Amino acid sequence: MTATAEDVAFVCQLVRTESAIMLDGSKQYLIESRLRPLAREAGLETITALVDAIKRGSRELKVNVVEAMTTNETSFFRDSRPFESLNSGVIPLLAQQRAATRTLRVWSAAASSGQEAYSIAMTLREHPALQGWNIKIQGSDIANSVLAQARSGRYAQLEVNRGLPATKLVKWFEKDGLGWVVKPELRQLVKFDQLNLLSQWPATYARFDIVFLRNVLIYFDVETKRKILERMKRAMCEDGYLLLGSAEMMNGIYDGFRSERFGQTGWFRSA
Ligand SMILES: C[S@@+](CC[C@H](N)C(=O)[O-])C[C@H]1O[C@@H](n2cnc3c(N)ncnc32)[C@H](O)[C@@H]1O
Repeated sequence: MTATAEDVAFVCQLVRTESAIMLDGSKQYLIESRLRPLAREAGLETITALVDAIKRGSRELKVNVVEAMTTNETSFFRDSRPFESLNSGVIPLLAQQRAATRTLRVWSAAASSGQEAYSIAMTLREHPALQGWNIKIQGSDIANSVLAQARSGRYAQLEVNRGLPATKLVKWFEKDGLGWVVKPELRQLVKFDQLNLLSQWPATYARFDIVFLRNVLIYFDVETKRKILERMKRAMCEDGYLLLGSAEMMNGIYDGFRSERFGQTGWFRSA
């Protein structure tokens, strides 16, 4: 099942308009491999038929195509150093700054299947300076398919093998058939919403102390990155901490944040 040049152009434009993700004509193979199963599931014989159904107004297929074109790669404690830096740099400072309220609000934006949000939850819950604190972690993503897994807290053995230390697996997870499920005491700290970073954010998305916005801006053009960073600044406490992916920069894009290093990791704070 191949995609015509016209199908590719249509899908690239659709994905860009709906999610800001930039695909281009060279992504033909990716588009074909991701849309083939979708077309089959919908009982359609070609990708052109799938595209036609969307052009005729199928909202469901439109959403499914955009979701299928997202890259949801993630893992527990991804890149490890940001979590070491959270533990030894950011938390001790925030523990002092928030001593009066003993409350921390964290957002894992573009949370994918939830490993990032649960890794943050484990780090915060285990930190000696935060014992007895009120911790709230908001996860969000555009793709409902990954959010279903995030909300269930269920992970296959292969997924926990990627980055989750054995001590944390035993402490925070229970065996669940062939896989594992996050224990309720950790799961109750984390809530997941479907949220497109391009659309309006609910009023409750405000006053975050820490934001993880990792490995998602790379898919957007400069103007979209700038707009999201501007809004992120407004969604955070003035003395909050923002983290991007290790390959992501802010230089030349937005100057509303300044960089602050803890260990090997550069964080961003309001300038
Ligand atoms: C590569 S994953 C990153 C997951 C996690 N932050 C990490 O670093 O491991 C990128 C995620 O961004 C989400 N995404 C892409 N475009 C988005 C948008 N416009 N709004 C919200 N999430 C989006 C995708 O669905 C995907 O789950």
